[in-house]
Amino acid sequence: MNKSTKAVSSGTAAKSERGAFTGSFGFLMTAIGSAIGIGNLWKFPYVTGQNGGGSFVLIYFFITLTIGVIAILGELTIGRHCKLNPVGAYRSLSKKFTFVGVIGESIAFLILTYYNIIGGWVLKYTVAYSLGQGSKIAADPAGYFQAFIGRPVEPLIWTIVFIALNYFILIHKVSDGLELANKIMMPMLFIFLLIMVIRSVTLPNAMAGISFYLTPDFSKVTFSTVTAALGQVFFSMSIGMGIMITYGSYLDDEADIKKLSIQIPVLGLVSAFLCGLAILPAVFAFDLSPAQGSGLIFVTLPHVFEAMPAGRLFAVLFFFLIFFAAISSSLSLFEVPIAYCVDEFHWSRKKTASILAILMFLCSIPEALSFNIFTAKFFGMSCFDFISYLAESLLMPLCGFLMFVILGYLWEPKTQFAEIEKGGTPFGAKNYYRIMVRYLAPLSIAIIWLNSSGILKLFQK
Ligand code: PHE
Repeated sequence: MNKSTKAVSSGTAAKSERGAFTGSFGFLMTAIGSAIGIGNLWKFPYVTGQNGGGSFVLIYFFITLTIGVIAILGELTIGRHCKLNPVGAYRSLSKKFTFVGVIGESIAFLILTYYNIIGGWVLKYTVAYSLGQGSKIAADPAGYFQAFIGRPVEPLIWTIVFIALNYFILIHKVSDGLELANKIMMPMLFIFLLIMVIRSVTLPNAMAGISFYLTPDFSKVTFSTVTAALGQVFFSMSIGMGIMITYGSYLDDEADIKKLSIQIPVLGLVSAFLCGLAILPAVFAFDLSPAQGSGLIFVTLPHVFEAMPAGRLFAVLFFFLIFFAAISSSLSLFEVPIAYCVDEFHWSRKKTASILAILMFLCSIPEALSFNIFTAKFFGMSCFDFISYLAESLLMPLCGFLMFVILGYLWEPKTQFAEIEKGGTPFGAKNYYRIMVRYLAPLSIAIIWLNSSGILKLFQK
């Protein structure tokens, strides 16, 4: 056991009521599990290709290593200092901040209502490919997918199965459920990802995808490239809804949160980069378009697998990979309201998880049905699209912005630095941290917010 592993494991009796991570490896795998998700797999490669390839990758790396690192450090600092769920944590800093935690909890809840549906789709495909139904899918991937999501009942059943899998992991203590599941799944995910990368880049004609992905084209870098990168960093690193506050609350005082807040984004970057290398060369090798949105996974990739030697085998592997990515992210989202109910109402994890699982499923129903029988529009969007717009484009940046305002202006810096320095070496970047949390980070988020909410467009007209 190395020093930091020991550090995270020494919990007190009071802490064991809430649960705690047993080691820094488990913590890192769990945090990375939250970061690598379905968004990484279809969105990062595609957004990169559309926004100037290598130049976008550079901007994305830069934003992750600056704002991303500081946001994660800020969340871990709040979480570990307060040792509470986001609502309790913000409230314990000041009653006036409670609403920020409430927004964070709501975002996690809202995202889950549709993440579970997509998780169900992934599960359906994983099972279908594993049972050898690849040829049925390959005969008409778009038709198969449309027919599936167009049926009212079947996708809901897969959503229930996906929620149930989350439930069976989450009813255990943090160390025996969430942490253990991620410790097993994440290394497997990385191995599968590497196999897919090797397969993808060694296909004939893979070069076209590699160059679409990586050739820097600075002429494509505009203001909207930068806001796209900022938004993607937030979603991909799961920043701005209190996941890292919740995870930080399970960390022991001696864990070095400075180190963790660099390790998490760096591993997140490596995995996002690998997702691009696993997907784009393969898509290009078979002359398909990467501009499919989420259909990339369910419609484009089945074509790729069909055309690839031993493609069905790779399809099984790949859908398991996506499944691990999806469930490790949904677990992190579930953990936010679970921590809330355990802290605030002193419910057991089992009771909390049972109530939440049922509630979550009921709230998912209108979104799942918005692909078939529920045709109502909300501001011109389907129920599914509206909820994701509300959570990701409006509330996530808002919550991140408010956190930086609190860190930069309202919470005493001395206490923050003392927290950051616990369990590690002195914090040498205090001035940098102050400039980031006071100016650069909130300003950048305000810009993403104005952009993603569509408000900026009103001015550009
Ligand atoms: N980071 C995940 C992804 O890339 C999504 C996610 C967002 C997970 C927010 C948790 C919280 O798909």
